[in-house]
Amino acid sequence: RSAGAELLHRAAENPRRGAARRPSLGLVPTMGALHAGHAALAAAARTTNDVVVVTIFVNPLQFGEQADLDRYPRTLEADLELLGAQGVDLVFAPAADEVYPDGPPQVRLQAGALGEKLEGAFRPGHFDGMLTVVAKLLNLGAPDAAADYRAYFGRKDAQQLALVKRMVRDLNFPVDIIGVPTVRDADGLALSSRNRFLSADERVAALVLQRALGMLRERAERNEPLDPDSVLAMIASEPAVSLEYLEVVDPLSLEPLAFACANTPFTGTALALVAARVGPVRLIDNMELNGG
Ligand code: PAJ
Repeated sequence: RSAGAELLHRAAENPRRGAARRPSLGLVPTMGALHAGHAALAAAARTTNDVVVVTIFVNPLQFGEQADLDRYPRTLEADLELLGAQGVDLVFAPAADEVYPDGPPQVRLQAGALGEKLEGAFRPGHFDGMLTVVAKLLNLGAPDAAADYRAYFGRKDAQQLALVKRMVRDLNFPVDIIGVPTVRDADGLALSSRNRFLSADERVAALVLQRALGMLRERAERNEPLDPDSVLAMIASEPAVSLEYLEVVDPLSLEPLAFACANTPFTGTALALVAARVGPVRLIDNMELNGG
């Protein structure tokens, strides 16, 4: 029996737990260098599950450039402290050869069309590698069939969340995928392990993305046309920010919404997704647009 299953077994025997309820396990996959965004995932898992397991693994399969993999921050001691404060039961932080004992796996997952656009267009193969490791981590962390199983992902990585949900549906993984709202710094910048590589000036410049998303959200709420050209012009006026994409998409399929780009009043709901390079860092962010 795995360590997670052992904890779950003990939790199930705890007389303080309601007898009628099935025990549950919450899994939070991460790559470490943890911040308050990750803490929010652990906290969400803690409120609804008997046992919370966090994985820390910098997955080589989902990195395009070796340099990006090499410089990915590794802060295990601080990570363990943060997770301890969240009341996490178990941290699984394997080495690469524990996860991939035979080297890179021969059999892998393919994200399909949803994995080829937006982020996928700029990071070929990224989502195949991400899904392959998430499938493995979901299997490694799985409780036995007598327990409920939930896994937690941030909405900041909207396409990742959509793809994980899609994988679970397409391949019948016995787990519920829970999306957790994006945690931001006081200035609005979405927390990311890579933000530490931004200089002070680059950080200020990066906030234009936040303003752009906020502008779209306000227009949506007032049922005005989104007028994306004016938003693109605002981003273009910030020379330190090199935009990769800004798209307004259906929240589930992530298909572009043509009407959102036309000069027609906005109604319904959509997701605005943005990606840009700022200095040495690639940033992504998104915001829900709600036109009632
Ligand atoms: P990582 O970038 O470490 O993120 C782990 C989880 O934290 C993801 O679900 C991500 O969406 C969430 N997260 C990151 N920043 C957040 C923020 N500011 N607010 C809320 N949630 C946030 O994403 C990965 O690792 C990897 O691709 C992984 C899923 C672990 C597979 O290797």
